[in-house]
Amino acid sequence: MHWHARIEKNVILLLVLTLITVSIGGIVEIVPTFTIESTIEKVKGVRPYSPLELAGRNIYVREGCYTCHSQQIRTFRDEVERYGHYSLAAESMYDHPFQWGSKRTGPDLARVGGKYSNDWHVAHLKDPRSVVPESIMPPYAFLAETPLRMDDVNAHLEANIAVGVPYSEAMLENARADLRAQANPNADTEGLLERYPKAEVADFDGNPGQLTEMDALVAYLQILGRMVDFADYGTEELAQ
Ligand code: HEC
Repeated sequence: MHWHARIEKNVILLLVLTLITVSIGGIVEIVPTFTIESTIEKVKGVRPYSPLELAGRNIYVREGCYTCHSQQIRTFRDEVERYGHYSLAAESMYDHPFQWGSKRTGPDLARVGGKYSNDWHVAHLKDPRSVVPESIMPPYAFLAETPLRMDDVNAHLEANIAVGVPYSEAMLENARADLRAQANPNADTEGLLERYPKAEVADFDGNPGQLTEMDALVAYLQILGRMVDFADYGTEELAQ
């Protein structure tokens, strides 16, 4: 081992050889990720958010709901039994920024869509203790009185396109109309549902006269975890 003693005594040589060794490890790990199209496995049903859901998502971020709620169900049995199927990477592939969160003062919301009615969400957001007496969640009643800002919807879609969300030309052109249609049960929603399958169409806040931030936030909460139909997947496919 005479040669090894030489390396140990020569700092520069040791440094150069260490760098070479570490780079080999780095190259082996990093280079393959450049040759594959995506590190996220595609999952049927996952689509970009509709304009109304996206507006609701922006309100969710603005209000800091993520400081108390995670959106990531881990692969542990207790989590899966409580919240449903564990989260797949693809389910948050169009979330910029993602809302996985790291704090659960309240429950995980990754699959809260469809768990409650729109009326329940509105009552809960206006005054959490009216439906869950022991709740410590703050009230957000002002959302029902705040008109939803609509002039910037295209800008939000375009910002998402810039980071890789595949909104089409048709989606951009119809963004404002789609936003209104989703909150109006009497609107012609054929185009909307073609562009955004499974989007829930409703007068979410129970106030048909005005499109409010409450409409948008509830539309967002109601799509969470509902894009993927797990019945489409065999248990062995998901068990990997
Ligand atoms: C200070 C922490 C806190 C903040 C901030 C907060 N929540 Fe909550 N949330 C809770 C707690 C605690 C519960 C459980 C009790 C209850 O249902 O009210 C809860 C429950 C919920 C539920 C019901 C979940 C279920 O499965 O029963 C929803 C939906 C919800 N919150 C949405 C929101 C939204 C949307 C925001 C942001 C506008 C928000 N929360 C902000 C603490 C918080």
